[in-house]
Amino acid sequence: TYVVLENCIKCKYMDCVEVCPVDCFYVGENMLVIHPDECIDCGVCEPECPAEAIVPDSDDRAVEYAELNRTYAGQWPNITRKGEPPADADEWKDKPGKRELFSA
Ligand code: SF4
Ligand code: F3S
Repeated sequence: TYVVLENCIKCKYMDCVEVCPVDCFYVGENMLVIHPDECIDCGVCEPECPAEAIVPDSDDRAVEYAELNRTYAGQWPNITRKGEPPADADEWKDKPGKRELFSA
């Protein structure tokens, strides 16, 4: 499965949802997650994210976020259409340490 990392927090560009063939993205206040049981590992979302927030679960960085993706994919609503990203999304892009800004 693929996993959304903290790079997504407060960026939430949503380009990813437009390309996912199985619509397995779920949306929270300031981040999206992927449902690990629905993702078919096609990989098309990975290069679409401007924040480079999506990686396969074989990536070391995915370890910390795999459980968060699973947990919130089961609680948040599904999202299939790109909406308006936050006005300050570009300012948050590539900023480290956004984990503590995560908001469910
Ligand atoms: Fe969707 Fe494919 Fe990305 Fe999985 S890897 S979330 S199936 S686009
Ligand atoms: Fe987040 Fe990237 Fe999608 S910033 S909403 S994972 S395009």
